[in-house]
Amino acid sequence: MDVYGLIGNPVEHSLSPPMHEAGYAERGIDARYVTFEPDPDALATALDGAAALGVRGLNVTIPFKQDMLAHVDPDPLAERIGAVNTVDFGPVLDGDGASEPDESASTPRGYNTDAAGVQRAFTHHDVDLAGADAVVVGAGGAGRAAAFALADAAADVHVANRTAAKAESLAAEVPGATGGGLDTLSAEVPAADVLVNATSVGMESDETPVPEELLHADMAVLDAVYTPIETRLLRAADAAGATTIDGAWMLLFQGVEAFEIWTDEPAPVEAMNAALRDRL
Ligand code: ATR
Repeated sequence: MDVYGLIGNPVEHSLSPPMHEAGYAERGIDARYVTFEPDPDALATALDGAAALGVRGLNVTIPFKQDMLAHVDPDPLAERIGAVNTVDFGPVLDGDGASEPDESASTPRGYNTDAAGVQRAFTHHDVDLAGADAVVVGAGGAGRAAAFALADAAADVHVANRTAAKAESLAAEVPGATGGGLDTLSAEVPAADVLVNATSVGMESDETPVPEELLHADMAVLDAVYTPIETRLLRAADAAGATTIDGAWMLLFQGVEAFEIWTDEPAPVEAMNAALRDRL
């Protein structure tokens, strides 16, 4: 039996175990997905232990996403984002699918599938990102992943953040991007094709980070918040006639992408989505 898991602290309310196990069941893969909650200062030991025990893959969440970068061989996107949310311990496959031991095979590989989660959430809803004017609200971990994802999909990115300096420094790293404070939303959102909320606003209270009157019908709005599943931002976007994409889609597709990295086969998206939405 293969073992996959999530490493973070805390992780007890994670929806990833049922989502991934539904995928294994659908594909007939004999595997389990479990949660690990090491001490925040025990990351290196935990990672060595997982490798020694034959764990095949790990998702990574708070507080380990940034620190994990130093312990893996990161792909270029994870390096640019500055965070790893997926670790692959599997053997390096050569062209024939056979394992090829070499010195790099002992270092697990690190990826950031939050970026693919953003891209695939939009494409699943038939939103074309190439050439789109995109606004990302937030410049933390989720904002960084969203900004790089949208720029890599050839969108023109603007980052708006409560702390303007953080948006400006992220924009300086993202090709073609601009950045500023939340006051820049009034100029940017009316012309936007795509908007991503990558702040935590809307999670604790019924608030929106974007003034509702700026939303319009010719845009798609993705909210990374998935508790509640229908945020105030998405309600307002729906009322404005926009395409709305809830945070469970981003959660789903980051998991789908991780599943595909680990198993090297297409993920059963429908089964994983059903298992996830069952528990929301
Ligand atoms: P994550 O990894 O989920 O992105 P994070 O790195 O802590 O979490 O980032 C949280 C984001 O939400 C930041 O962009 C933060 O803005 P600041 O950089 O100014 O702190 C944003 N955020 C959190 N609470 C907010 C609020 N009440 N209003 C506006 N933005 C808020």
